[in-house]
Amino acid sequence: MKIVVATEKPFAAEAVQKIKQVIDNAGFEFLLLEKYTDKSQLLDAVKEANAIIIRSDIIDAEVLDAAKNLKIVVRAGAGYDNVNLEAATAHNVVVMNTPGQNSNAVAELALAMMVYSARNFFDGSSGSELSGKKLGIHAYGNVGRNVARIAKGFGMEIYAYDAFYPVEAIEKDGVKALASAEELYLTCQYVSLHIPATAETKNSINYALLEKMPKKAVLINTARQEVINEAELVKIMEDRPDFKYLTDVTPKNDAEMKEKFPKRYFSTPKKMGAQTSEANNNAGIAAANQIVDFFKTGNTKFQVNR
Ligand SMILES: NC(=O)c1ccc[n+]([C@@H]2O[C@H](COP(=O)([O-])OP(=O)(O)OC[C@H]3O[C@@H](n4cnc5c(N)ncnc54)[C@H](O)[C@@H]3O)[C@@H](O)[C@H]2O)c1
Repeated sequence: MKIVVATEKPFAAEAVQKIKQVIDNAGFEFLLLEKYTDKSQLLDAVKEANAIIIRSDIIDAEVLDAAKNLKIVVRAGAGYDNVNLEAATAHNVVVMNTPGQNSNAVAELALAMMVYSARNFFDGSSGSELSGKKLGIHAYGNVGRNVARIAKGFGMEIYAYDAFYPVEAIEKDGVKALASAEELYLTCQYVSLHIPATAETKNSINYALLEKMPKKAVLINTARQEVINEAELVKIMEDRPDFKYLTDVTPKNDAEMKEKFPKRYFSTPKKMGAQTSEANNNAGIAAANQIVDFFKTGNTKFQVNR
């Protein structure tokens, strides 16, 4: 069984070693393609692959056509919008992600951004504290639940809205479940976004929703760029000088935001929510284990193209 790790942006060396170990222990063959600069290298590397582990690498119909023996692709991470699921299904290829493996890393970054905002972007002036402030968690999934856990330590008052996650499960964590996004934005000074980008959520964070937020509103986005209505975000920040936006997913209008709102807008230079050695290790090892399990027992628990 040939398992190809194909990563244009490589895993940390330690994670690669650990992935290799899992694959070696299973008696499978480990092949590595890192930092490729041309798609032809990927097409070549997957020719004989039975399984591929990827990060943000694009798996489209052309790659699937080239990989004649392919049975499974695992995206080491949560989002899998870089894989053409329909084409994979048409090729009889199982696609999986590794949910939850990088959630703590992303959640820590979300809290770090809240502190950064409360302390006026570390500019030396007197700031405020998170303790006692209301935090709204928009989507109570793997990342959202970790945000709640950490925010409790900061002494925040925590609210959440999730369209599908059961209210009782939210409240069991000591978090107040609200019935709508509108209610969440009305209630909370801090809102942290953890929704996926879907047909329903794209562009859904708009003026009507954001204007509901209380004074000194802070919106944190470690989710996806597409969920924000960027033109309307600019408008609310123009209309409300108290409104701050901090993001790990660079907007298309980054330059405009930086110029217009230098003290109220922050974006990481590059998406870094999951960029920790721990998250790298966790997601990479989980991907390798899921592949071994798939071939040895047929386990498809984390399949996303059913
Ligand atoms: N910044 C980063 O590096 C980074 C890393 C990992 C994940 N992410 C992003 O963070 C987000 C959350 O990831 P996760 O691992 O927690 O995902 P998850 O699948 O565990 O959780 C998503 C939650 O969103 C809820 N949801 C779906 N549609 C909704 C809607 N319309 N309204 C309200 N809730 C809705 C689901 O019920 C689920 O509980 C995703 O957008 C993911 O792509 C970013």
